[in-house]
Amino acid sequence: MVRSGAVPTRLFRFENMVLLWYGVQKLSTKQFCTLKRVVDPVTGVVSYNGKSRAIWTTHPIEKPYLIYQIGSADPELAVQAAKTVMQDVSGFDLNCGCPKPFSTHAGMGAALLTNPDLLCSILTALRQAVPPELTVTAKIRLLPSQEDTLKLVERIVNTGISALTVHCRTRNMRERDRATIERLREIVDFVKAMGKDIAVIENGDCLGAEDANRVRQATGAHSVMIARAAESNPSCFSSTPLSDIHETLVPAYIRLSKYLDNNWSLTKFCLSQFKSPHTKPNGKAEERRVRESIVKSRSFEDVVDVAGGWTGEEDFREIVRAIEARDAKVHEELEQEEEATMADVLSRISSQRSDNAYITPPGTQNPHPPSSGAPLIADIQRTLPALISGQDPMTPTHTPSINPLPMPVL
Ligand SMILES: Cc1cc2nc3c(=O)[nH]c(=O)nc-3n(C[C@H](O)[C@H](O)[C@H](O)COP(=O)(O)O)c2cc1C
Repeated sequence: MVRSGAVPTRLFRFENMVLLWYGVQKLSTKQFCTLKRVVDPVTGVVSYNGKSRAIWTTHPIEKPYLIYQIGSADPELAVQAAKTVMQDVSGFDLNCGCPKPFSTHAGMGAALLTNPDLLCSILTALRQAVPPELTVTAKIRLLPSQEDTLKLVERIVNTGISALTVHCRTRNMRERDRATIERLREIVDFVKAMGKDIAVIENGDCLGAEDANRVRQATGAHSVMIARAAESNPSCFSSTPLSDIHETLVPAYIRLSKYLDNNWSLTKFCLSQFKSPHTKPNGKAEERRVRESIVKSRSFEDVVDVAGGWTGEEDFREIVRAIEARDAKVHEELEQEEEATMADVLSRISSQRSDNAYITPPGTQNPHPPSSGAPLIADIQRTLPALISGQDPMTPTHTPSINPLPMPVL
């Protein structure tokens, strides 16, 4: 999500059982091709820098789950943009749903829905250009008529994509209009009947892990994509989402953002979106106090009272531990079935999920430590394959950390 999808937010969501995350770049693909890739030797954060600032950042720990969303109306530029970042992601998604003029005026986003030749030529070019272990997927909106939607879906599926996300609103519908998820089942059945094992992901009005069961039952979709509910509460992917978020999540979020050197105004924007129910008697008053402090602040130093000191490194390690424990389970699933498609994996993991299912059993070592080419925690080599494909040849060579940290004990 534009602006809401910063690295700290993504890491908290991975910790809370998100299966795949669609990262986004807001620039035109033309600008993106000129960026310089820089790795922070202490934190491992990878930045793609423009002339004066980082345009897109990521962390190697998220690579097995990170799908990079491209906004494009030009197959060649889309391929160039994909090649620029492909060593840091597990797949590419083409945005065919954004109705905002900044996308559609240039023929991108939802404008592609009425230009299927161009839409499919971008997907085909991406599929041909990027290695097979990286997935290519598309996110569309419904067309006004179901018949036209199915015709479009057929063409898109035939380009060789691995998954299709359907935002169950049409281009002219606003977010406040109810998503028409009842239209999705026919699309899911249609894709299944094409026999290509493509995952169909529902999007629109899903509120969290529990609600995903309702949506999957109603639509038959393999999985769901959650946007606004996750913007409000990054822990909504957990079956026990956090309440009183201004006390439970916000302090850690600020510390982690500071540690990862996340841009302050972006951090402040994400903080301003957070909301959750209260369970404590003083919950509302505490939220007010935290919000006021954040609204007045101009830098991380102004919110020390909320963050409670700068030890974001420990918050980061906690997240690494949670993701490692989860990775072990995901890769066990993949190893059981070498030929698993994205549809199989999403379907199986989504339907079985409960938080405990992803925790490494006590006393056992995580068999697949998810390290990376960039220094995450010292001296761990990334041995994990990409989530979907089981192969990951493009991870950069590991560079030792300047400031090594001890291995976490699991
Ligand atoms: C702040 C914000 C940013 C978004 N950015 C993107 C984007 O970059 N790409 C995209 O495909 N959809 C984007 N969306 C749309 C969502 O992905 C999603 O399709 C829509 O919000 C409906 O899902 P929901 O009901 O779960 O919110 C954005 C939505 C919001 C609220």
